[in-house]
Amino acid sequence: MRVLVTGGVGFIGTNFVKYVMSNRPDWSVTVLDKLTYAGRQENLSEFENSDRYSFVKGDICDAAVVSRVMPGCDVVVNFAAETHVDRSIDDPASFVRTDVEGVRVLLEEFKKDNTRKVFLQISTDEVYGSVETGRSSESDALDPRSPYSASKAGGELLAMSYFTTFGVPVIITRASNNYGPFQYPEKLIPLFITNAFQGEKLPLYGDGGNMRDWMFVTDHCSALVAAIEKGRPGRIYNVGDGQEKTNKEVTFAILEATGSDSDLIRFVEDRLGHDRRYAVDVSRAASELDWKPEIDFETGLALTVNWYRANAQWWQSIKSGEFREYYKKMYSARLENSERNQ
Ligand code: NAD
Ligand code: TYD
Repeated sequence: MRVLVTGGVGFIGTNFVKYVMSNRPDWSVTVLDKLTYAGRQENLSEFENSDRYSFVKGDICDAAVVSRVMPGCDVVVNFAAETHVDRSIDDPASFVRTDVEGVRVLLEEFKKDNTRKVFLQISTDEVYGSVETGRSSESDALDPRSPYSASKAGGELLAMSYFTTFGVPVIITRASNNYGPFQYPEKLIPLFITNAFQGEKLPLYGDGGNMRDWMFVTDHCSALVAAIEKGRPGRIYNVGDGQEKTNKEVTFAILEATGSDSDLIRFVEDRLGHDRRYAVDVSRAASELDWKPEIDFETGLALTVNWYRANAQWWQSIKSGEFREYYKKMYSARLENSERNQ
């Protein structure tokens, strides 16, 4: 089986390719990645000499590149996206472009060959919007509330329209928040782990009571392989671990795992439109894909902290580049205001 993995050197893509290379020896992988600030080709350098792996630098919105790379591929797994909610609030345009238009370009190429097996669109539980109680199931109405989640909703709706209209074998997965190795340190868990290592403040938005349903990234990867092998075209599958935590609980767990003191915490001005809670019902993935998560939060966090400790060069090179300007823009005023109010 030949798999085209778009966005394959971002956080989840990297973990997915590693998972496939070790667990599916008869699959080969082509990665197509634009190498935005979030992509690192060297994440997969161990496979450079493998005849099962190839890398192409390119944009999923570029039809010429996509039509060069996709022929011969049986499966497309589309991870490529702009992914950070805070950046989407600052600049929504790139999100609409990659997360909606990019999906259309991929689908147009995919539909030219009706022997292809699966177009797997990686979506998010954020398309359901904030869920104050209970758990979202796949038939619930979508209520995306950030430019990121709205763009992801647009992308998956477009993908499903290609199933309905053209019979393209689209499968959609809606995953909860992932964490683990190779996550860009703009997201909560790697930001707070690396800030704690550096003795920097941990900027908690609002009251720190927002809840997320955390999933270790390899559990997501096993669900995606199960969706490719056992999923039904036209079907949507929620994927999550059911390990709900408030951001404050996550922060205290990080403090403990890094041996840091709680005086690093700063409660800062909230994110605009901040969704209070996400939680998914994964019973469909459990019964139809025969999938279940395996890593509990304590184990996954310990693995993650150890990875960031052992790979300081990886995140330090990121934090000393473009990231510094980004961090200043997003956090300087917030942190100054919180010091003033202490
Ligand atoms: P990431 O930001 O770490 O990586 C995104 C990758 O896509 C990068 O390698 C980047 O270079 C590439 N990319 C961006 N725009 C591109 C374009 N136009 N053409 C080609 N490549 C492009 O993201 P991630 O956290 O690994 O997320 C991967 C996917 O999973 C996304 O679709 C995201 O919406 C979804 N998802 C993520 C989470 C999570 O918690 N991280 C949860 C649910 C769903
Ligand atoms: P994030 O990792 O950005 O994922 P998402 O917004 O897609 O869920 O954020 C996870 C939670 O952590 C979310 O409730 C926002 C919060 N958060 C902070 O409190 N401080 C931060 O610096 C960041 C990045 C996130």
